[in-house]
Amino acid sequence: MTGAVTVAGMCGIIGYVGHTESTRPLSVVMEALSRLQYRGYDSAGVVVVNQSGLHHVKKAGKLAALEAELAARPLPAASSAVGHTRWATHGGPTDANAHPHLSPDGAVAVVHNGIIENHDLLRQELLNAGAVFSSQTDTEVAAHLLARAYHQTGDLPDAMCLVAQRLEGAFTLLAVATGQPHLVVGARRTSPLVVGLGEGENFLGSDVAAFVAQTNRALELGQDQVVTITPDSVSVTDFAGQPVEAKHFTVDWDASAAVKGGFATFMEKEIHDQPDAVRDTLLGRTGPQGHLKLDELRVSESLLRSIDKIIVVACGTAAYAGHVAKYAIEHWCRIPTEVELAHEFRYRDAIVTEKTLIVAISQSGETMDTIQAVRHAREQGAKVIAVVNTMGSTIARESDAALYTHAGPEVAVASTKAFLAQITATYLLGLYLAQLRGTMFADEVRAVLSELDQTPAKIQTVIESEDGIKALASAMKETKSVLFLGRHVGFPVAMEGALKLKELAYIHAEGFAAGELKHGPIALIDQGQPVFVVVPSPRGRDALHDKILSNIEEVRARGAVTLVVAEEGDIAVTEFAERVLWVPQTPTLLAPLVAVVPLQIFACALASAKGLDVDQPRNLAKSVTVE
Ligand code: F6R
Repeated sequence: MTGAVTVAGMCGIIGYVGHTESTRPLSVVMEALSRLQYRGYDSAGVVVVNQSGLHHVKKAGKLAALEAELAARPLPAASSAVGHTRWATHGGPTDANAHPHLSPDGAVAVVHNGIIENHDLLRQELLNAGAVFSSQTDTEVAAHLLARAYHQTGDLPDAMCLVAQRLEGAFTLLAVATGQPHLVVGARRTSPLVVGLGEGENFLGSDVAAFVAQTNRALELGQDQVVTITPDSVSVTDFAGQPVEAKHFTVDWDASAAVKGGFATFMEKEIHDQPDAVRDTLLGRTGPQGHLKLDELRVSESLLRSIDKIIVVACGTAAYAGHVAKYAIEHWCRIPTEVELAHEFRYRDAIVTEKTLIVAISQSGETMDTIQAVRHAREQGAKVIAVVNTMGSTIARESDAALYTHAGPEVAVASTKAFLAQITATYLLGLYLAQLRGTMFADEVRAVLSELDQTPAKIQTVIESEDGIKALASAMKETKSVLFLGRHVGFPVAMEGALKLKELAYIHAEGFAAGELKHGPIALIDQGQPVFVVVPSPRGRDALHDKILSNIEEVRARGAVTLVVAEEGDIAVTEFAERVLWVPQTPTLLAPLVAVVPLQIFACALASAKGLDVDQPRNLAKSVTVE
C-alpha cells in the first residue's frame, strides 16, 4: 500500500528484561513511559513476553488511555517488556498505527523511532510475497521482515542484523520474540538508544530518562549497532554481527528530579528548579584561585587559541540561548560569532574552516537538525563543542567535546531550566576562551564569575514574586496577541518570551528587536495591544536604557498597554508602564538569566488559566528527532 503512511517520528522507547516472570517488567515500562511522554503523546503501547508468548495492548491518545485499557485488559506476568510513546509525523494517531507492531503470526513485536525511508519499496516486496498489513506505518514493514528473518535464523539478534542491513533512513528499533522471553534486541541508526545496566535486569531507552529511576549505570551505543540485553548480559555488535565495544558512563541525574515534587505540573516545577540548574551548571568549574577550568573540553588549547570564528548552531529555545551567547562571547573574546538555526546552517554553503569553532546547543542532544549540522561541520574540518543536557546523547557523542549543562531531566515539553543552564554554560565557555586567549584579565574573569554565582539567588527572588505575575496572566487570559520587545541581550529574551506564550497558550506572540519597531512592526500596535518590554539595566555603559524608553513611548502613544520587565530601582520606567515586573539588578550581559523568568511564569500561568496542558502542548514533542 502506498499513499498516506504514518511514520513514527520522535518517540519514547523503553525495553526491560529480568529473570523471573512478574509484574515488574510492565510496571518499569509504564513508569518509563510516563517520563518519556515528552517525546510524543499521540499514542502509547506495551508488549510483554513470557513462556506463553507475546501479549500487547496499544491505544491512541495520551498514556492515560493506555492505562485505562490495561485496567480493563490486564497483561499477564512476564520476564521482559517493551513500551512506546509516539509522536507521529504523518497520518492519524490511531490504535492501529500505535506501537508495538506485531508480525501477522504474532512471532515478533517491534517498536520504532525514526523514519524508514525505503519502506515503500520494502512494503511492495512484502505485498508481492503475500503479506497483509494492518497499519499504515513504516514500522510494520520492519515487523514483517523481522518475523521472516527470525523464522529463518531462529535467533532474534541475528534476525535483527539482517533486517537492519536492509533499512534506510533513521531508526531505533526494539524487538521481542516468542520463544525468547529473556531477551530484548535493539538496533540503531542515527536515532537514539542507550543501555541501562541493572542487577539481574537490564534496560534499553531512547534516552537515559527512560531508566534513570532504576539505575545510573549506562552504556552509549554507536551508529549502526545492534544490542541484545538479557537479565545478566549486554552484547553489542555492528549490523554484520561483529562484536563492538560500548562506552560506559554514569548518569548523574537525580531520579527524584523527574517527578513533579508537589507542583501541579512539570512546567511549574522546572521553572522553580532554575536556581539549581544555574548553580549546578556553574559547580566545580572554577579552580581554587578563581581560575576557570573546563576539564571536559577535549579540544587542544592551541586550537582554541587559533580559532577565528564561532558559529553557534541550535534550534528553538536553544538557539535563543545561542543569541545571548553571541553578545557575551564577542564582548569577552573578540571572536566573530554567528548564531544560526541548525537546519538553515546545514543546507546553505556556510563558510566553515578548520579555524571555525562550532558550538552546538541542545537540551536533548537528539535534535536531528542539530545532529546534521554537527556532522556537516565536522566533515568540513571544524571542531564542535556541544553544550548538551543529556548524557549519552548523540550530539554529545558525535562532537569533539561536550560541555554539559546540569539542569537535570527536563520533562515539560517547553524548555525553561535547560535554557538558563545553556546560557550559563555558554557564558562559561566564553569566559574560558577569554581567559585562554588573554582577552580578559584574570580578575575580570573572576568578577564575572562572582556575578554569575549570585544569579541563582536572584532567579529565586523573581520566582518568589510569581503570585503577582500569575494574577496578571489570569486577567489577560482572553488576550489574542502579545508582542515582546527587547534590545541587545533583551532581544533574544523577548523572542523566548514570545515562543513560550505561543507554544503554551496558543496565542499569537512575536518578539522584536525594539529598534526594528519603526521599520514595520509598529503598524501592529492598536488600542489595547499588550506589549512586554524587556528594559536593560540603567547602569549599563551605553544608551540602551534610554533608547528603549523612547520605544516604549512610541508604542504607548499608539495605544499599547506596556508591561515592563525592569531592574529594581529603575524608577524612570514606572511612568512608561501600565505594569512593571521587577527583577534584581544584574550586569547587562548576564541579565537574560533573570529577565526571562517573569516571561516564563507569565506564559505558564496564562496557559493554565485557559485550562491548557502546559506540560504537553498540542502538536509538539520535546526532542525533534526527525528533520
Ligand atoms: C521550546 C523548545 C524547543 C527546543 C528545540 C531544541 O520551548 O523546547 O524550541 O528548544 O526543539 O531542542 P533541543 O535543545 O533538545 O535541541
